[in-house]
Amino acid sequence: MNIEKIRQDLPYYGNKIFLNSAGSSLSPHTVTKRVQAYLHQEELFGGYKLEDIQAKQIAAFYEQTATLLNCNSKNIAFAHDATDAYIKALSAIPFKNGDVIITSSNDYASNQIQFISLQQRHGVVVKRIASLSNGDIDMVHFQKLLSEETPVLVAITHIPTNSGLVQDVAAIGEICHQQGILYLVDACQSVGQIVVDVQKLKCDFLSATGRKFLRGPRGTGLLYVSDRVLQSTMAPLLIDGWGAKWTALYEFSMKPSAKRFETWERSYALMVGLTEAIRYANDIGIDLIEERNIELQNRLRHNLSSIAGVKVYDKGSRLGNLITFKKEGISLENLKTHLDDHEVYYSVSTLEWGLIDFKEKGVEWVIRFSPHYFNTLEEMDKVASILAAV
Ligand SMILES: Cc1ncc(COP(=O)(O)O)c(C=O)c1O
Repeated sequence: MNIEKIRQDLPYYGNKIFLNSAGSSLSPHTVTKRVQAYLHQEELFGGYKLEDIQAKQIAAFYEQTATLLNCNSKNIAFAHDATDAYIKALSAIPFKNGDVIITSSNDYASNQIQFISLQQRHGVVVKRIASLSNGDIDMVHFQKLLSEETPVLVAITHIPTNSGLVQDVAAIGEICHQQGILYLVDACQSVGQIVVDVQKLKCDFLSATGRKFLRGPRGTGLLYVSDRVLQSTMAPLLIDGWGAKWTALYEFSMKPSAKRFETWERSYALMVGLTEAIRYANDIGIDLIEERNIELQNRLRHNLSSIAGVKVYDKGSRLGNLITFKKEGISLENLKTHLDDHEVYYSVSTLEWGLIDFKEKGVEWVIRFSPHYFNTLEEMDKVASILAAV
């Protein structure tokens, strides 16, 4: 990996230490250029004409995403963010009173809210797989739930927002596949960070966002839809004239591809920007990106754990590049001021984003650092010295 070149593609990086790719990362310069150029061309040609002119570039979104996730381009839909992708997938499932959704205790807060909403409106029953004391999904409890219930859906977040845990979505996928259960993976924090191969995960749906580890523009996301779903009549509940065609007074026919999970309008400028970001990741190689990310997270976790008074809260047999911690005796306000003064970029995770996890850990907030491959090992050392000095 050519780190020098990768850093050159961040011409405005300056002296900051950017550790917020799990929030909204820094795009390579070519991504911003691509968006700007597209917008300029819209000024010249108008949006509809330009869409025709740029048809190949627009098609490249599906091809590049399919390469990244190891599937066919017909299985990919563009979305406005990860939540847009996720709720379209959820809305495609015809839930009835008493239907069971199995999820994890570490699933993303918005997903949990959506399940509760389905519970309140449609009488869906939500069951959560317990976590082991090391943070991993309790597979024995999962099997027990499956012996008691016949779930309509299993929905698991690959990497939760609130800790460094990487959940074993492939092991869950294998079981869902054997039992023919629909399987939805929230891969918002993993796509772009580590290898995500939908063939190995055996999922029916997988949602992700553009602005995080993929380094795309804000307001972009994507959805993978399996062949099994495409061959069925499943489609978003409230489908539009892009995903379907109005064929008779009370009938419509759906697009055969995952495009039936899209709506007609979108920002094509942002879409080609996301395409450029995915192409950038594919050109480097997601396996190399993952390797580099492991090196960075190991160094940073080790450094933080070595500072007196710092407690790292991440649990799990496999960890990712979301590193969460607190420093004893220092208020959140003082810690934030100190990091801001030293141009360190980070997020704060609060209780409502990881209700079960944070209650178990006995914390109301943690600082979250999320390095990505463009960061350097020197930065992992420097940020530790900055923290040691507070
Ligand atoms: C695990 C996880 N899922 C889903 C989302 C939602 O992503 P978006 O804001 O793009 O809809 C996030 C955002 O932080 C997330 O961390």
